[in-house]
Amino acid sequence: MLILGIETSCDDTAAAVVEDARHVRSNVIAAQDVHREFGGVVPELASRAHLDLIGPTVARALEDAAASFADLDGVAVTRAPGLMGSLLVGVSYAKALASALDKPLVGVNHIEAHLLAPLLEGAEFVYPMVGAVVSGGHSEIFLVEQPGRYAIVGTTRDDAIGEAFDKVAKLLGLGFPGGPVIDRLSSAGDAKRFLFPLGMRGSGDFDLSFSGLKTAVKRAVEKAAPEGPPYDDAFTADVCASFQAAAVGALLAKLEAAARAHGARSLALGGGVACNRALRAGLVRMGERLGVPTFHPSPRLCADNGAMIALVGSLRLMRGESDGPLLEPVANLDESGLLSA
Ligand code: KG4
Ligand code: ZN
Repeated sequence: MLILGIETSCDDTAAAVVEDARHVRSNVIAAQDVHREFGGVVPELASRAHLDLIGPTVARALEDAAASFADLDGVAVTRAPGLMGSLLVGVSYAKALASALDKPLVGVNHIEAHLLAPLLEGAEFVYPMVGAVVSGGHSEIFLVEQPGRYAIVGTTRDDAIGEAFDKVAKLLGLGFPGGPVIDRLSSAGDAKRFLFPLGMRGSGDFDLSFSGLKTAVKRAVEKAAPEGPPYDDAFTADVCASFQAAAVGALLAKLEAAARAHGARSLALGGGVACNRALRAGLVRMGERLGVPTFHPSPRLCADNGAMIALVGSLRLMRGESDGPLLEPVANLDESGLLSA
């Protein structure tokens, strides 16, 4: 079964071809450079860029997979959650394509796709699984009791963790997106130089908070270096390392608490922040401590991509589920019906 997956929920236009819900035949991600100078995603610019990029990105995905439109068995597209204008471009394109080809169309929940992405690399989940989806727009901890049954057990009360990485990077004059550069600079920094608070520590639930941490970093930087950026390299590295330790530490603490409380038999990470090396290493150590396997996709499948969308679309099609031409995008996770599987 050959499925084309299309992802346009935020600022990456992505398309991929996946065979039999397993083999990634192609995975093309056209990052939109227009947002860089604004230090964050500008929704209007994102939807316009999706319009320009979607045709060529799909063409390239087919070419890389050595497939033609006629070879496809279906079209999968992200229907929720995300920026409405961005989602609309992908959903409209996928609807038109599926209708022109007379192939089934499947709408996919982006968060479910992040969670299941390790299946594309041969993962064998053990249930119940506790997993976190962490990105520029999300910080949720899920309990997956069995395939297709998801419950959110913890979420951020304010900013997403990726947003905190991006804002701290901006404050330090490190550009956008901030996660990869903070990850890299942290390895040369002293994580104990600044003692930043672990958000929601001791709150008794599995919720997270990153806005207090962001403010604490801002205050510490303004106090230690009132002259503003550019800061010297050692100072920048120490702030990055201290911030990263607090952000990753807070997430890991809640993930472990949720895993223990729900008797998790495996652990998973997904989303752009799951590329973070300290987070990945922390997850592996947690798995060893709890005696359970851990899963995190390779970086190309952590960030927004079409392969994870094609994967979930394939799983739904294999169960005989598909959506008709009335499929509509939904911006909000709460209203998105995560139980799409
Ligand atoms: O999943 P993704 O590509 O898009 C969203 O749905 O948001 O995630 C992008 C986010 C950005 O906030 C980026 O800074 C963060 O993931 N990110 C990282 C790393 N690589 C990307 N954060 C921490 N460490 C990284 N290595
Ligand atoms: Zn995402």
